[in-house]
Amino acid sequence: MNKVIAASAIGRKFGNTRALENVSFDISESEIFGFIGPDGAGKTTLFRIITTLLLPDEGKMTIMGLDCRTGYRQLRKNIGYMPGRFSLYPDLSVEENLNFYATVFGTTVKENYDLIYDIYSHIEPFKKRLAGKLSGGMKQKLALSCALIHKPGLLVLDEPTTGVDAVSRSEFWVMLKKLRQHNITIVVSTPYMDEAMKCDRVALIQRGRLLSINQPEKIREEFGRKLFSVTAPEKFKLINALRSFPGIRTAYPFGDSVHVTFKEDEFDDSIYKHLDRMGVINARITETKAGIEDSFLELMQKE
Ligand SMILES: Nc1ncnc2c1ncn2[C@@H]1O[C@H](COP(=O)(O)OP(=O)(O)O)[C@@H](O)[C@H]1O
Ligand SMILES: [Mg+2]
Repeated sequence: MNKVIAASAIGRKFGNTRALENVSFDISESEIFGFIGPDGAGKTTLFRIITTLLLPDEGKMTIMGLDCRTGYRQLRKNIGYMPGRFSLYPDLSVEENLNFYATVFGTTVKENYDLIYDIYSHIEPFKKRLAGKLSGGMKQKLALSCALIHKPGLLVLDEPTTGVDAVSRSEFWVMLKKLRQHNITIVVSTPYMDEAMKCDRVALIQRGRLLSINQPEKIREEFGRKLFSVTAPEKFKLINALRSFPGIRTAYPFGDSVHVTFKEDEFDDSIYKHLDRMGVINARITETKAGIEDSFLELMQKE
């Protein structure tokens, strides 16, 4: 399959901060490829390199067959970028924002209306409204329409769902999947682990380095140990008690429960006695399947 992005040993520093280090990956045509990582992991830096707004200090990146250092003029015409920070003009209306982006790229809204229809139709009834007065979910749809209006082959979305309500978040992913029909390759970043499952492949990124690249389901399988979920009414007390148990290898808070692994990789039932001694009442322990977040924490611990 054709490589839309081929990155090899990319490095980028800001003063003494290594924002990216030895980052290598390939992205194929029509893939939805996610970079998953916490704040400061290097996602935005990488996306600015992909969109030719920033040059790497080290390594080589080819995008749609062009070098990121020399091909930027052509590349910019064929890349749609939705930066993390709001990219719209708050004092222009919905319709004016869209027309503006179309004009900058030498096209018209009419020409590419088919491509944005699924997304733009949600906000078209409010086309006279100022962008600054839209809700988070509506701003997100307008920003996506603007990023698509020149029919790019590659769409780069930096944390498009951060700060957006849960319903809009899931609607957004439905829209992204539909874009695949138009042969658009999508690179997206998110700090939300649940969104990783919606990508074709994901790269886990931490402190400028890629920890793993795989299909989300494979990343869950990479966990490779028995995992248990522990609940008790007093969660804070529970986690401290678990961590003080000699047979415990890891204990991380996870929603309403605590996810634990044992050093021997087997359930050690003397833990009940220990929890009792530590004053933890009504503890319940069940075996569970690792999620992306568990795999991420596991990989981080190995680093
Ligand atoms: N322009 C810059 N000047 C100095 N440091 C920067 C700059 N941009 C990013 N960094 C640093 O690089 C690291 C990665 O940042 P960033 O790429 O924004 O991560 P993310 O988008 O994953 O939160 C952070 O430590 C950040 O402080
Ligand atoms: Mg960022």
